[in-house]
Amino acid sequence: MVYQVLSNVSPSDQVRGMLGQECQVRVWSPGDARLAPILPSIEGIWLYGHLKVDGAFMDLLPKLRVISNTGVGVDHIDLGAARERGIPVGNTPNVLDGAVADMTFALILAAARNLVPGVGHAHGPSFLHYEPEFLLGYDVHSTTLGIVGLGNIGRQVARRAQGFDMRVIYHNRKPDPVAEAELGVIYVTLPELLRQSNYISLNVPLTEETTGMIGRDELSQMKRTAFLVNMARGAVVDQEALVDALEAGQIAGAALDVTKPEPLPRDHPLLTLENVIITPHLGSATVQTRRAMKQMAVDNLKAGLAGRPLAHRVA
Ligand code: DGY
Repeated sequence: MVYQVLSNVSPSDQVRGMLGQECQVRVWSPGDARLAPILPSIEGIWLYGHLKVDGAFMDLLPKLRVISNTGVGVDHIDLGAARERGIPVGNTPNVLDGAVADMTFALILAAARNLVPGVGHAHGPSFLHYEPEFLLGYDVHSTTLGIVGLGNIGRQVARRAQGFDMRVIYHNRKPDPVAEAELGVIYVTLPELLRQSNYISLNVPLTEETTGMIGRDELSQMKRTAFLVNMARGAVVDQEALVDALEAGQIAGAALDVTKPEPLPRDHPLLTLENVIITPHLGSATVQTRRAMKQMAVDNLKAGLAGRPLAHRVA
């Protein structure tokens, strides 16, 4: 039995090895009419990245019986449409929490300690003598970290903050007494978190509720010396308002692993500001984590194709 699978990326040799002989992968991109004739035979979708999968697309694939996403965030898939059509959707939770939390700290430290301009200076022609007042950053240790979204990733960020002697406050839809007892974190309202934090880490999924949750009003409540770190999704932040806040020096800086869209147009103002670090969605990008994600996604895919329950199912 050979299953017909549609993917938005060409599978690496590693993934081909995981898929084995039983899956024939067709690589497809939106607007590519050449694959139209094979769509009716497609039985599974294996996604890597954020290709939009909506009900209209599902309806082009009458034999579709599983959508497997390589990643935990599934905001690009219409889960309601999948449920209505009885198509299970799988994702890859837990295995990436540590890597995303590591990257959150990489960005906090890089932004606070001028890592990017520092490297540029050290490699450039003007580093000929040492200046004691040059590129002074901000302490990370012993400051206050505000985590917006204390889920699996947020909790891992809180753990790392303990090693930096940080006071950790968090905001969720509701307090989490178990996490508070385990991690010593303190629940606050969003305005309190904005006012008190030296570093704000966004770790929420993108939903209707979190879209645009950090806007002009929220940015105006942050300290002038505070940094915003976004490891969630670009659309959680009102980017126009962020550009204005950064240009006006209303906050000290931002570090964004995610933007809307990704990549940003090359002339986007965020790419021109000195108090912003942008990385290309590297949260889970380690050899070990990506391998584990791919394995989980392939397992979900194969289970769905064979009509078995998915080990990690979101719809
Ligand atoms: C995730 O797992 O959601 C990452 O952001 C990759 O999309």
